[in-house]
Amino acid sequence: VKRITTHILQAMKQNGEKIAMLTAYDYSMATILDDAGLDVLLVGDSASNVMAGHETTLPITLDQMIYHAQSVVRGASRALVVVDLPFGSYQGNSKEALISAIRIMKESGAHAVKLEGGTEIVESVQRIITAGIPVMGHLGLTPQSIYKFGTYTVRAKDEAEALKLKTDALALQEAGCFAVVLEKIPAKLGKEVSESLIIPTIGIGAGPDCDGQVLVVNDMIGLTKGFKPRFLRQYVNLYDGILNAAQSYIKDVKSSDFPNEKEQY
Ligand code: KIV
Ligand code: NA
Repeated sequence: VKRITTHILQAMKQNGEKIAMLTAYDYSMATILDDAGLDVLLVGDSASNVMAGHETTLPITLDQMIYHAQSVVRGASRALVVVDLPFGSYQGNSKEALISAIRIMKESGAHAVKLEGGTEIVESVQRIITAGIPVMGHLGLTPQSIYKFGTYTVRAKDEAEALKLKTDALALQEAGCFAVVLEKIPAKLGKEVSESLIIPTIGIGAGPDCDGQVLVVNDMIGLTKGFKPRFLRQYVNLYDGILNAAQSYIKDVKSSDFPNEKEQY
């Protein structure tokens, strides 16, 4: 199978073909999602929440992100694999950003990296791209800045923040980003930004006019109990599915129903 490239994603935008992206953190899930035909698998720092159980994305380390990325790369034969640079691995300066990006590419075999932020990270973005590493941007609700925002609510509802986001999006495109994630912003702004850029926008809670969509896979398959923001469409309830399976297993073990004659040597 032919690998999806950043150039194919840009051609998809030109042809009006939507880009389907989900997160993945491990080999088994990556295998299924790649088989299903996802265009992009994002090794998101949301692993900090859904894999490690942290309240925010801040604690996950570069080493931990590389471990997740290695696992996903082994399971993905067609999808483009993009990896988040975690909090603290790039904000210091552009050299630190470059070193972190190089570690991800070299040690995991992933195809691109993603950084949160606008004009303030442009120097880092340029330096990483100069080294030959494709960069995806991320604007709007950027969870690594949650303590600055103080809330996970919709961003850029006021004129000033909307204007800053539009400026940031153009700056990221100018710096050479191949795509940009727009998280939790009004649909109208998602449309405006998508129309003003030649690079694809990938939305999460950013309306129907983005050039692609992304969700956290654990949310989309119903593994994260009680998490149902408005932007989320849950396609299956695996929490209940796995709970029921585990309870059936317990019952079968306790009653000595498992293993039966065929399930032994
Ligand atoms: O870490 C993540 O899952 C993300 C997506 C929500 C875009 O950055
Ligand atoms: Na992320």
